[in-house]
Amino acid sequence: MTGLFDRELGQLHAAHLARHRRQVQPAVPPADLAPHDEALRANTYVIDGQTRLSFGSNDYLGLSQHPALLSAAHEAINRYGVGATASPLVCGHSPEHDALERELAERVGLPRALYFYAGYAANVGAVPALVGRGDAVFSDALNHACLIDGIRLSRADLHVVPHADLRALEQALQASTARRKLVVTDAVFSMDGNVADVPALLELCERHDAWLMIDDAHGFGVLGPHAEGTLAHHGIAGIGGPSPAWRGRLDRLIYMATLGKAAGVAGAFVAGEPSMVEWVMQKARTYMFATAAPAMVAAPLRAALRVMADEPQRRLHLQALRQRLREGVQSARLPWTLMPSETAIQPLVIGSNEDALAVMARLDEQGVWVPAIRPPTVPEGTARLRISLSAAHTGEQIDRLLQALARAT
Ligand SMILES: Cc1ncc(COP(=O)(O)O)c(C=O)c1O
Repeated sequence: MTGLFDRELGQLHAAHLARHRRQVQPAVPPADLAPHDEALRANTYVIDGQTRLSFGSNDYLGLSQHPALLSAAHEAINRYGVGATASPLVCGHSPEHDALERELAERVGLPRALYFYAGYAANVGAVPALVGRGDAVFSDALNHACLIDGIRLSRADLHVVPHADLRALEQALQASTARRKLVVTDAVFSMDGNVADVPALLELCERHDAWLMIDDAHGFGVLGPHAEGTLAHHGIAGIGGPSPAWRGRLDRLIYMATLGKAAGVAGAFVAGEPSMVEWVMQKARTYMFATAAPAMVAAPLRAALRVMADEPQRRLHLQALRQRLREGVQSARLPWTLMPSETAIQPLVIGSNEDALAVMARLDEQGVWVPAIRPPTVPEGTARLRISLSAAHTGEQIDRLLQALARAT
């Protein structure tokens, strides 16, 4: 047995596909930071013993170390202890979780939300709750792994649709005679940063009597006038509910977003029509058979929602950083391609796995950490540096990244 694993591990290493975990911690513990140390908050880490400026996290608003979230977590620990002690359906659902769900639903403008301990669990639980054998799922070719796993678990027939190809999707929907049809897509594609055309998808689903599930892991907190996410970005729904054009037309929508990225903590939620959400709560096995996230996680998430509303400058700053990076990359004439992206994810496509790892190492030598993303996370031959920006970065830190990239060619 050991021989088998050693052989397979050897092949993984030979293909430059082996992963290596690093030990990461903030360069200065957040509790020790003074307000004037803001440039060190949520972007400078000690990685395997070396201090690095990081462009690797999904902490898009820099909330993971925000003082308001830290104190909400401490208060919740004092009040509830550190563990939820059971599944939400047994006795793990606290007033903090309940209030969080109401506030999440209100933020995205949908009637009800259900909080899960992780995004992976939300997708793997929700998809099989919605569809099963004899149903059909239409999945974008670049969807996140946990949507794909949820579809596989559901036993519904899977139709993989070329990325963002609405015509191919329409043809597949037209040809399907399935009892239930579910279209599933990332709202912001996690390794590319582009935004799905959700209004067109919703209209297509209306025409073909299908449901639409969108995973807004990378849009919630980043897009929309009040950080409500991709639905608000497209003028579909946001604080105050659906827009007039979409009122009464969202009963086929299943919205999902994660809370370990822009919201800075952990978990996810599924939102939409009350009976759909109730059904997911009754049927999702990852909800029913798993211990709830503790209240010390739900409470800072409520604080994160308040900070998102009270500090819009974070998103404006993020947009300015994105602009600065894109202009800088363009004028530096790097030999790599920065993919078009209006979000915090700015992928620089290098090509081979080996080259992507080499560029990552050359940045690392200069004190800058950007993760190289390789297959199967991205298609073969498109290994890339996934530069992820955060409102915690400063303009000068973007310039430092640009200088390091220029020297890494
Ligand atoms: C698009 C997408 N959906 C779901 C997840 C899973 O969320 P979580 O990390 O909360 O399990 C991720 C990444 O982690 C993601 O990028």
